[in-house]
Amino acid sequence: MLDVAKCCITRYPMPVLAEKARPVENFDDSLKALAEKMKDIMVEHKGVGLAGPQAGVGLRIFVASPDGTKKNAKVYVNPVINPSGKILTNEEGCLSLPGIYGNIRRYSNCSIKAQDLDGKEFSEDADGILARIFQHECDHLDGTTVADKLSTVAKIAARRKLKKLRENYEKNED
Ligand code: CO
Repeated sequence: MLDVAKCCITRYPMPVLAEKARPVENFDDSLKALAEKMKDIMVEHKGVGLAGPQAGVGLRIFVASPDGTKKNAKVYVNPVINPSGKILTNEEGCLSLPGIYGNIRRYSNCSIKAQDLDGKEFSEDADGILARIFQHECDHLDGTTVADKLSTVAKIAARRKLKKLRENYEKNED
Protein backbone atom coordinates (compact mmCIF):
# COMPACT_ATOMS: atom_id res chain seq x y z
CA MET A 1 0.00 0.00 0.00
CA LEU A 2 1.28 3.43 -0.94
CA ASP A 3 1.70 6.02 1.77
CA VAL A 4 1.01 9.04 -0.42
CA ALA A 5 1.26 11.49 2.49
CA LYS A 6 4.96 10.68 2.69
CA CYS A 7 5.62 11.34 -0.99
CA CYS A 8 7.82 14.33 -1.68
CA ILE A 9 10.22 15.47 -4.36
CA THR A 10 13.29 13.25 -4.68
CA ARG A 11 16.61 14.71 -5.73
CA TYR A 12 19.74 13.29 -7.30
CA PRO A 13 21.39 10.96 -6.18
CA MET A 14 18.40 9.28 -4.53
CA PRO A 15 18.59 5.59 -5.64
CA VAL A 16 14.93 5.45 -6.79
CA LEU A 17 15.84 7.93 -9.56
CA ALA A 18 18.37 5.50 -11.00
CA GLU A 19 16.15 2.42 -10.89
CA LYS A 20 13.79 1.00 -13.48
CA ALA A 21 10.23 1.61 -12.29
CA ARG A 22 7.74 -1.27 -12.05
CA PRO A 23 4.50 -1.44 -14.06
CA VAL A 24 1.35 -0.25 -12.30
CA GLU A 25 -0.95 -3.22 -11.67
CA ASN A 26 -3.50 -1.86 -9.20
CA PHE A 27 -5.70 0.93 -10.46
CA ASP A 28 -7.05 1.70 -7.02
CA ASP A 29 -7.71 4.75 -4.88
CA SER A 30 -4.11 4.94 -3.72
CA LEU A 31 -2.99 5.31 -7.35
CA LYS A 32 -5.45 8.19 -7.78
CA ALA A 33 -4.14 9.77 -4.57
CA LEU A 34 -0.57 9.37 -5.84
CA ALA A 35 -1.42 11.08 -9.14
CA GLU A 36 -3.05 13.95 -7.26
CA LYS A 37 -0.01 14.31 -5.03
CA MET A 38 2.33 14.20 -8.05
CA LYS A 39 0.40 17.04 -9.71
CA ASP A 40 0.71 19.08 -6.50
CA ILE A 41 4.46 18.45 -6.25
CA MET A 42 4.90 19.40 -9.92
CA VAL A 43 2.95 22.65 -9.54
CA GLU A 44 4.62 23.53 -6.22
CA HIS A 45 8.07 23.23 -7.79
CA LYS A 46 6.99 24.95 -11.04
CA GLY A 47 7.61 21.97 -13.27
CA VAL A 48 5.83 20.81 -16.42
CA GLY A 49 6.12 17.10 -15.70
CA LEU A 50 6.85 14.68 -12.88
CA ALA A 51 7.50 10.94 -12.89
CA GLY A 52 6.75 8.43 -10.09
CA PRO A 53 10.39 8.06 -9.00
CA GLN A 54 10.50 11.84 -8.49
CA ALA A 55 7.82 11.42 -5.83
CA GLY A 56 9.78 8.51 -4.34
CA VAL A 57 7.59 5.84 -5.94
CA GLY A 58 9.13 3.34 -8.35
CA LEU A 59 6.00 2.92 -10.47
CA ARG A 60 5.49 3.60 -14.17
CA ILE A 61 3.37 6.72 -13.94
CA PHE A 62 3.97 10.35 -14.84
CA VAL A 63 2.03 13.59 -14.97
CA ALA A 64 2.52 16.26 -17.62
CA SER A 65 1.23 19.81 -17.99
CA PRO A 66 2.84 21.86 -20.78
CA ASP A 67 1.74 25.14 -19.14
CA GLY A 68 2.57 24.00 -15.61
CA THR A 69 -1.00 24.29 -14.33
CA LYS A 70 -2.75 21.61 -12.31
CA LYS A 71 -5.90 22.10 -14.39
CA ASN A 72 -4.11 20.96 -17.54
CA ALA A 73 -2.07 18.20 -15.89
CA LYS A 74 -2.72 14.80 -17.41
CA VAL A 75 -1.80 11.40 -16.00
CA TYR A 76 -0.07 8.66 -18.00
CA VAL A 77 0.17 5.18 -16.51
CA ASN A 78 2.41 2.42 -17.97
CA PRO A 79 3.34 4.63 -20.92
CA VAL A 80 5.05 3.36 -24.05
CA ILE A 81 6.43 5.99 -26.38
CA ASN A 82 7.42 5.99 -30.00
CA PRO A 83 9.55 9.06 -30.79
CA SER A 84 9.92 10.17 -34.41
CA GLY A 85 10.83 13.13 -36.59
CA LYS A 86 13.85 15.37 -36.38
CA ILE A 87 16.38 15.51 -33.57
CA LEU A 88 16.10 18.83 -31.77
CA THR A 89 18.53 20.17 -29.19
CA ASN A 90 17.02 22.29 -26.45
CA GLU A 91 17.85 23.36 -22.94
CA GLU A 92 16.26 21.13 -20.37
CA GLY A 93 16.17 21.01 -16.60
CA CYS A 94 14.71 18.61 -14.06
CA LEU A 95 13.06 19.14 -10.67
CA SER A 96 15.22 16.33 -9.27
CA LEU A 97 18.39 18.10 -10.40
CA PRO A 98 17.89 21.71 -9.30
CA GLY A 99 20.29 24.13 -10.95
CA ILE A 100 21.41 21.69 -13.64
CA TYR A 101 20.57 22.64 -17.20
CA GLY A 102 21.91 21.27 -20.40
CA ASN A 103 21.19 21.02 -24.09
CA ILE A 104 19.48 17.70 -24.52
CA ARG A 105 18.76 16.02 -27.84
CA ARG A 106 15.19 14.78 -28.29
CA TYR A 107 12.96 13.78 -31.16
CA SER A 108 10.57 16.48 -32.38
CA ASN A 109 7.53 14.20 -32.29
CA CYS A 110 6.36 11.48 -29.99
CA SER A 111 3.35 9.20 -29.92
CA ILE A 112 2.37 7.64 -26.64
CA LYS A 113 0.21 4.74 -25.54
CA ALA A 114 -0.75 4.72 -21.88
CA GLN A 115 -3.50 3.92 -19.42
CA ASP A 116 -5.55 6.38 -17.41
CA LEU A 117 -6.22 6.07 -13.67
CA ASP A 118 -9.01 3.55 -14.34
CA GLY A 119 -6.73 1.40 -16.47
CA LYS A 120 -8.35 2.46 -19.73
CA GLU A 121 -5.91 2.60 -22.64
CA PHE A 122 -5.51 5.70 -24.75
CA SER A 123 -3.02 7.10 -27.22
CA GLU A 124 -1.84 10.54 -28.23
CA ASP A 125 0.47 12.20 -30.71
CA ALA A 126 2.58 15.08 -29.48
CA ASP A 127 5.05 17.60 -30.80
CA GLY A 128 6.71 20.65 -29.30
CA ILE A 129 7.17 20.79 -25.56
CA LEU A 130 4.79 17.90 -24.88
CA ALA A 131 6.86 15.55 -27.07
CA ARG A 132 9.93 16.60 -25.09
CA ILE A 133 8.14 16.06 -21.75
CA PHE A 134 7.05 12.55 -22.80
CA GLN A 135 10.64 11.58 -23.63
CA HIS A 136 12.05 13.18 -20.46
CA GLU A 137 9.49 11.51 -18.15
CA CYS A 138 9.79 8.09 -19.80
CA ASP A 139 13.55 8.33 -19.27
CA HIS A 140 12.81 8.74 -15.54
CA LEU A 141 10.80 5.50 -15.58
CA ASP A 142 13.89 3.71 -16.87
CA GLY A 143 16.21 5.29 -14.30
CA THR A 144 17.70 7.88 -16.66
CA THR A 145 17.94 11.59 -15.86
CA VAL A 146 19.24 14.60 -17.77
CA ALA A 147 22.52 14.19 -15.83
CA ASP A 148 23.09 11.01 -17.86
CA LYS A 149 22.43 12.86 -21.12
CA LEU A 150 24.59 15.95 -20.70
CA SER A 151 27.32 16.51 -23.23
CA THR A 152 30.89 16.08 -21.95
CA VAL A 153 31.31 19.86 -21.75
CA ALA A 154 28.01 20.33 -19.91
CA LYS A 155 28.94 17.50 -17.54
CA ILE A 156 32.15 19.28 -16.61
CA ALA A 157 30.23 22.54 -16.11
CA ALA A 158 27.70 20.76 -13.87
CA ARG A 159 30.31 18.89 -11.84
CA ARG A 160 30.27 21.21 -8.86
CA LYS A 161 26.48 21.40 -8.68
CA LEU A 162 26.21 17.61 -8.86
CA LYS A 163 28.78 17.29 -6.08
CA LYS A 164 26.76 19.75 -3.97
CA LEU A 165 23.60 17.68 -4.53
CA ARG A 166 25.46 14.52 -3.46
CA GLU A 167 26.70 16.28 -0.32
CA ASN A 168 23.17 17.50 0.52
CA TYR A 169 21.88 13.98 0.05
CA GLU A 170 24.49 12.49 2.38
CA LYS A 171 23.77 15.17 4.98
CA ASN A 172 20.06 14.32 4.94
CA GLU A 173 20.79 10.60 5.19
CA ASP A 174 22.62 11.00 8.51
CO1 CO B 1 12.98 15.24 -14.66
